[in-house]
Amino acid sequence: MDLAKRIQCFSVIIYCLLAANVALKVKKAPRDTAAKVGSTVILHCHVEKSRHDHFVQWFGYAPRPDKYGGQISANGEIVISAAESKYSVSRVEPYNLIITNLDKDDGGRYKCNDAYTGDAIGGVQPHLVVLSKLRCPEEVTTLNENQTFHINCSVNHTGAADMKMVPHFKWIMNASPMTRAVTQTGLDSTTTTVSMIAYPSLHGTELTCGYEVMGMHDQCYTKLEVRYAPRPPRIKIHNKDVTKKNISARLGEGIILDCVTSGFPSPTFTWLYKDHDGIFKHLAFESKFKLYGLMMRHTGEYMCAVKNDVNKVGENTTVYLKIVDSQAHTSEVTSHLKKGVIAGTVIVVILCTVATVIILLAWRARKTHRRVLKADARYRETARDSPNASPARTQRQGDAAVRTRTLELRSKEPETCNCSEAECCEDLTDRTRFIYADLDGETTEPKTTTAALTLV
Ligand SMILES: *[C@@H]1O[C@H](CO)[C@@H](O)[C@H](O)[C@H]1NC(C)=O
Ligand SMILES: *[C@@H]1O[C@H](CO)[C@@H](O)[C@H](O)[C@H]1NC(C)=O
Ligand SMILES: *[C@@H]1O[C@H](CO)[C@@H](O)[C@H](O)[C@H]1NC(C)=O
Ligand SMILES: *[C@@H]1O[C@H](CO)[C@@H](O)[C@H](O)[C@H]1NC(C)=O
Ligand SMILES: *[C@@H]1O[C@H](CO)[C@@H](O)[C@H](O)[C@H]1NC(C)=O
Repeated sequence: MDLAKRIQCFSVIIYCLLAANVALKVKKAPRDTAAKVGSTVILHCHVEKSRHDHFVQWFGYAPRPDKYGGQISANGEIVISAAESKYSVSRVEPYNLIITNLDKDDGGRYKCNDAYTGDAIGGVQPHLVVLSKLRCPEEVTTLNENQTFHINCSVNHTGAADMKMVPHFKWIMNASPMTRAVTQTGLDSTTTTVSMIAYPSLHGTELTCGYEVMGMHDQCYTKLEVRYAPRPPRIKIHNKDVTKKNISARLGEGIILDCVTSGFPSPTFTWLYKDHDGIFKHLAFESKFKLYGLMMRHTGEYMCAVKNDVNKVGENTTVYLKIVDSQAHTSEVTSHLKKGVIAGTVIVVILCTVATVIILLAWRARKTHRRVLKADARYRETARDSPNASPARTQRQGDAAVRTRTLELRSKEPETCNCSEAECCEDLTDRTRFIYADLDGETTEPKTTTAALTLV
């Protein structure tokens, strides 16, 4: 072969290689993928078909088909006969590899190969991580009070090349993340554990464990059931705590005694009643005990007893109920009322009497005073008109003197009225006569002769 021919052939090879390379336009490059056992996965290697020739192969470096590399496909064809049904190449997006019914042996490295160059298309040899089903705790975890417990979640994962491909676990308790979990990753499995003490407060709590890896996640949960003895019960009426109290209820009315406790398994309730004989008798087996149409004989001590499997003896508490006669209560009120009304009336009557007396006295004093003044004026007039009248006498009497005399006279009234003649007593009513008689200073006898004593 001469040099010219060699050069021509060489350039054709170069051309062919270049053309093939230029033609392989990658639309979906291979990337690391995670999938679950039993599922179907698509390993991307979607290239645009050019008019030029190209040659795309899939190789597997997983336990299947071969740890050291086995060809699976050539362009759109599956070349491996042993597990033909497991693999296929996508016709919609050539040359994506579809692997069905995954198992742990499918986990590992793959290569989408450009046969012309021997290079991995997209520059990546993708890993397929196959995850086992998440091994979950029981749906319900039953624990005894104060028991230390561990709850585990684990998953097997094959084909992981580094920690980025290992599931990352999280625990959630009642919607908040838990930080106390311990997670251990082995060669092809990861286990996460939470350790806690089963306090009754944890009863009913939901624990969720879940992982995330390369956009895939899974989770499971368990509900905690903490067995604990029933707590000492409380007795309530209309939500008001009456435990160990003395309460009263009215005759004929109704009442609901509510026994409240907690415990798991749910405690059984027993209501008992003790009357005069001092022996408790069974009444009911419900948390709420209803008593309607209360009678006097319902008075007594009521006990609520609770127990469950954890505490078969149980706990109890009491309330003392006294039935009161509302009628008696009413009449008591009425008698109180009556007493009040009588007392009030008496006080009012006394006050009125006193007021009347005061008013009367004041009125009489005023009337007397007016008469005195009037008489005095008359006297003055008469004295001026009558030549017999002594000016000295006129001098002697002033208003003040008259008033003083009046008071003295009034206080002397009973003694003054010891006369037997009707005339005298008649005169008494007209006190002014005495006043003027007395003013004379000579006699206590009325002087009917003087003009001054003639009163209207
Ligand atoms: C559980 O522990 C608490 C203290 O943490 C204690 O008060 C309680 O009696 C314990 N219960 C049982 C049943 O041991
Ligand atoms: C959880 O794992 C621990 C060891 O990591 C083990 O002791 C314990 O028994 C496991 N618990 C359950 C419920 O499997
Ligand atoms: C994980 O692998 C171990 C052995 O490697 C096996 O015993 C266990 O059952 C596997 N777990 C699951 C959930 O497949
Ligand atoms: C409740 O009443 C009963 C009977 O009248 C009496 O024996 C008991 O001491 C009272 N208890 C309280 C706490 O008042
Ligand atoms: C109530 O509790 C006491 C102990 O607190 C116990 O001796 C008694 O037997 C209990 N009674 C009932 C009826 O359960």
